[in-house]
Amino acid sequence: MSAAIQRRLEIPEPQSAEQTELHPELNRAHVCFINLGKTYNGQQGPVAALHGIDLAIQRGEVFGIIGRSGAGKSSLIRTINRLEQPSSGRVLIDQVDIGGFDEDRLVALRRRIGMIFQHFNLMSAKTVWQNVELPLKVAGVPKEQREQKVRELLELVGLQAKHKAYPAQLSGGQKQRVGIARALVHDPEILLCDEATSALDPETTQSILGLLREINQRLGLTIVLITHEMAVIREICDRVVVLEHGRIVEQGPVWEVFGNPQHEVSKTLLAPLQHALPKELQSRLQPQPNSSDAAVVLRLQFTGSQRDEPDLAALFSALGGRVRLLQGGVERIQGHALGQLLLAVTDSPLAAEELRQRASPWAQQVEVLGYVV
Ligand SMILES: Nc1ncnc2c1ncn2[C@@H]1O[C@H](COP(=O)(O)OP(=O)(O)OP(=O)(O)O)[C@@H](O)[C@H]1O
Ligand SMILES: [Mg+2]
Repeated sequence: MSAAIQRRLEIPEPQSAEQTELHPELNRAHVCFINLGKTYNGQQGPVAALHGIDLAIQRGEVFGIIGRSGAGKSSLIRTINRLEQPSSGRVLIDQVDIGGFDEDRLVALRRRIGMIFQHFNLMSAKTVWQNVELPLKVAGVPKEQREQKVRELLELVGLQAKHKAYPAQLSGGQKQRVGIARALVHDPEILLCDEATSALDPETTQSILGLLREINQRLGLTIVLITHEMAVIREICDRVVVLEHGRIVEQGPVWEVFGNPQHEVSKTLLAPLQHALPKELQSRLQPQPNSSDAAVVLRLQFTGSQRDEPDLAALFSALGGRVRLLQGGVERIQGHALGQLLLAVTDSPLAAEELRQRASPWAQQVEVLGYVV
């Protein structure tokens, strides 16, 4: 069995309410998909967007969904608030199957689930204040309560001073803050984010991610987040699932999937975050030592299964000889050390394979890449 499959939560199809109660994974899950399928009626016939999705999202976690364009990410997230109706299988929220909900129960469900979008979806003819207030008005909330709630939320997202502005007078980041405030008006327990930072520059993305993290921690919301930006996942998600052609191909804690992706799609998506060999070094690299003073080039990879950063003094002394750092970086994701070091070793009495073995206590993977003069 592959690690990717082993990592999948094994959720058996519950046959009865009793069994649902008995299964601990289901019991704890905030959102649970069981054998979920979705087929659209496209113009050229049926389009199968999701197949056999079994997935449990825990209360209070920030859960990321990644995959290529068309993989089914939006289709999946939109079944949580039933903007999409599944074609087969079930969606449970707090162990309640939402499949049979009538209109009234759906309205109530959607108030428990906020959603923010890439293009903010604000009303251009309404002010910031009115945009946030609108869903409360629609829900028939009395004026005083509305005012208190809107004030509270504008403070949370840092937009008190802009309450009279119209969307056209706001920056992208400010618009998304309005979107977030509006999504929180009914004190939801789940926040769905479909590409919520994709239209923003890196600095604004950081500030919106900071706000989402604060909302997750302070208000205890479960956040389900789709993004094409792997750095966003690395920054705030606890776990991540990778979709391809409507199926789950990999899932796990972010540090684990990012540190050692198993599936080809995950590897491709995460490639921009992996440290590639510098071009200049690649062109000089030889498969065999062509002179006696050639340096052995080692790559040490830290995939996060050790929590400590490498002790460089100890590593260098184990290798003997002179060790130069060609390239390297180690970062921390969820408290795990991830990254790589490229080292060139000269004047060591040890052969390349011995060097590799000597380095192995300090990293999860050590390779001899070749030789340079
Ligand atoms: N309303 C629809 N009618 C027909 N086909 C649809 C519809 N919505 C989505 N699809 C198809 O379902 C598949 C999954 O679409 P979905 O929007 O879930 O992908 P996605 O992963 O969110 O992609 P992207 O990253 O581009 O947003 C695609 O093949 C898409 O063309
Ligand atoms: Mg999408």
